Order: sequence, then C-alpha cells, then structure tokens
Amino acid sequence: NTGKLWGGRFAGGPSPELEALSRSTHFDWRLTPYDLAGSRAHAGALHRAGLLTDGDHAELVRGLDVLGEQYAAGDLRPAPSDEDVHGALERLLLEEVGPDVGGRLRAGRSRNDQIATLFKMFLRDHARVVAGQVLDLVDAIAGQAEQHLGAIMPGRTHLQHAQPVLLSHHLLAHAWALLRDVDRLADWDARVAADSPYGSGALAGSSLGLDPAGVAAELGFTGSTANSIDGTAARDFVAELAFVGAMVGVDVSRLAEEVILWSTAEFRFVRLHDSWSTGSSIMPQKKNPDIAELARGKAGRLIGDLAGLLATLKALPLAYNRDLQEDKEPVFDTVDTLEVLLPAFTGMVATLGFDTDRMAELAPQGFSLATDVAEWLVREGVPFRVAHEVAGECVRRCEAAGIDLPDLSDADLADIHPALHAGVREVLTIEGSVASRDGIGGTAPVRVVEQLGQVRDRATHL
Ligand code: ARG
Repeated sequence: NTGKLWGGRFAGGPSPELEALSRSTHFDWRLTPYDLAGSRAHAGALHRAGLLTDGDHAELVRGLDVLGEQYAAGDLRPAPSDEDVHGALERLLLEEVGPDVGGRLRAGRSRNDQIATLFKMFLRDHARVVAGQVLDLVDAIAGQAEQHLGAIMPGRTHLQHAQPVLLSHHLLAHAWALLRDVDRLADWDARVAADSPYGSGALAGSSLGLDPAGVAAELGFTGSTANSIDGTAARDFVAELAFVGAMVGVDVSRLAEEVILWSTAEFRFVRLHDSWSTGSSIMPQKKNPDIAELARGKAGRLIGDLAGLLATLKALPLAYNRDLQEDKEPVFDTVDTLEVLLPAFTGMVATLGFDTDRMAELAPQGFSLATDVAEWLVREGVPFRVAHEVAGECVRRCEAAGIDLPDLSDADLADIHPALHAGVREVLTIEGSVASRDGIGGTAPVRVVEQLGQVRDRATHL
C-alpha cells in the first residue's frame, strides 16, 4: 500500500519528479486532527445510511482514535510516498484496521469536499486564537491609556504638529482600529460556519444518502453548503481571512512605526523595557525597537500572503483545480506570523514607559494652538474665514518676533483684530485647548474617559 488514493486506471506509478511536485504533506500534515475529526463524522454518516455495519463502524472509529493518539504523541508521520494528508491518513488507517474495513471509509467523499471542510475548521480555530491575541493587544493599549489619562501630546497631521491631544486619545485610536479587525474575524467566522462543504463530493454531491446537515453540526458548522460546486471550488473564505490578517498587520504596523519614532533621541516620548528591546553586537549603548520593526516588516509579508492567494484564485474555472493546493501555505503563514507577532507586540506595548513631561513640553510647539484662536474668535461671533486669517496673522507675528502665541501682548492682540482680547489666553494652554474639544469623539478628558469605557465594553463583548 503506497498511500495512493488512485491508480486503477494507470499502468505504471507516477514518476519521482511528479511525486516531488505533487506532495503537500510537508505543509498539510498539520491538518491531521481535522482530517480525523472529519473522517469520524463521515464514518457516522455512512453508518446511519446503512453502509457500515455496527462492527465496521466501531472498528473504524477505533482506528481513527489510535491515529489521533499517535499524532498527539508526535508519533504519526507521513511517508515520502504519501501525496497529501488525506492519502497518508488513509494508508495509516488501513494499516491499523486492515484494508477490508479501512477501504469502506472513502465512499461518498472526495478529497475536494474533504479539504474544503477541514481547511475551514482549521482556519476557524486559528482565527479565534488571533482574535484573542488582538484583544490582548487592545487591552494593553487601553491599560496604557488608562494609566496616562490627562497626559497631553502633540497631535500630528502630515507628521507635523497639528493640535494638542490626549495621549490616551491617540492610543485609543489604535484600539478602535484593532477592535474592528476583531469584528471582521467574528463575522468572517459566522459566514464560514454557515457553509460546511461536506457532502459536496468531488463537485456534484453524493448519491449515498449521507447526512450533510448532521455532519456539519457535528463538525461545528451552523449550516451546510447549498451548492456542491461552490462548496468545493470557493476559496473566498481563505482570501478573506488573509485580508483580515493583512489588515491586522497594517494596523499594528502603524503603531509600530510610532513606537520606532517615539523611541528616538529626537522624540524621547517612550522608553522601551529591557525585556522587550534588543541591543547591538558592536555599539554597547544601543537599545533597538526590534519588535516594532519586525511588526512593520511582517505587515509586508502578510500583504504578500494575501496578494499571492488572490493571484492563485484569479480566473480559476469551476470546480476544483489542483492550483487550489497552493491556497494553504500563504494563509498558514498569515496565522503563524500573527500568532508569533502579536504576543511580542503586546508585551512591548504593555511595558512602554511614556515620558509625559517631554510630550507636554512639545505639545504647544509649532503654534499648535492656532486653531484654538480661530475657534475662540468664532465663538466671539467672527466668521471663520476671517478668524482663520486673524489666527494666521498671530502666527506670522509670533514667528517674526520669535515668541509663542500666549506671549502676544494685549496691544498686539487688539492691533491684529478688534475682537481679539485677553480672554483668548484661556484657550492658549494645552489643557484649555484639549478641554474645549468636548464634542462626541473629541479629545477632551471627559470624552476620553467615556471612550475608554466604550473600548473596554466593546472588547468584552466581542
Ligand atoms: N491536497 C489537495 C489540496 O490541498 C486536495 C486533493 C485534491 N486533489 C485532487 N486531485 N482532486 O487541494
């Protein structure tokens, strides 16, 4: 027995070159527990359909259990002659229970519905792990936001000083994006769960009175595919998960880039914890943000996984094509990458030491309170077009005199515009500025406290 699932119509065996090309056990072996679970459910369906005696059914289940135990113990291995995980497990099952009983299991199923079903099961498990890890990261971000309520930093657009914002507000912006990714994973999961491909056979369905709905439920699905061609040929579930994975990578890379910038001597906003940073082999003084840099780099890799997958799927005619064997490695890489990246990234974030004095010192620089002058004038009844010009004139004078906005004298103010008086100084502090932005979604401390509660609430309900 060579582990081949076909051969009757061939006069000779496949060439070694074909075997080498065709083989997928080096990456699909990890699907073993799912393949065994699918086989157990299938044996039950055959039994219920009257196609397996009680004795044969019990013997098959015993054999599958033995293989499961051997796999868990690390003692089950594919042979070089095995084409894929399905063929290898059939060979091993035949060795365990003998060809007469073992040879009955394949009735009514094809590797095409088999792989589509168990690939979904595998990805659902990993999507859940990734979602949990993203929520851990959200928790670390929320923890930092909570610890630094009140700290003010320079908010930026175009990486230039724009307006002062609360550090917590900035951090929570990352949390919201990550929560949407978890949301995406949850609705991806519900969509995948509704469509078990089991029973689709090679492409046309089964004639053996199997029980697709029952098997689907047994394997954790909520429904069974309505179209056997779609069930075996569709891989949008793979591409969609790769997209969400890439999106997580991109979202994490945005915070990563900030940590890299913030930890430079020029910024000095954060200090990395020793256990979550690295040194240099030649420069003794170095402390490098390797976790953040790897996060930034791995985002590129995750995008590559998605792009490669979509290229494989593009223009494939229905139904199953062997090209589809290429769907696994990219998304395995997606979940493997995220599962090793996210815990490290979370540890780095949780242990960041923020220099809030340094942030507060820089927050008003670059005339970041100019918008506050303009909006104060609007509240005084001045049209915004005029207010914008007036605030701009304030900045111009300050720049020329080498002073900052609060340093303008009462005489300067009156000279720039009659509506401008000493009362404007109320908003010319970073505290006054952030406190004034108290509309929904704004950076005022009262709003940010409320927001922190919303993030925590969202995170516990996802
Ligand atoms: N190992 C294949 C895959 O990953 C499944 C086998 C289907 N092969 C076939 N000749 N129909 O897609």
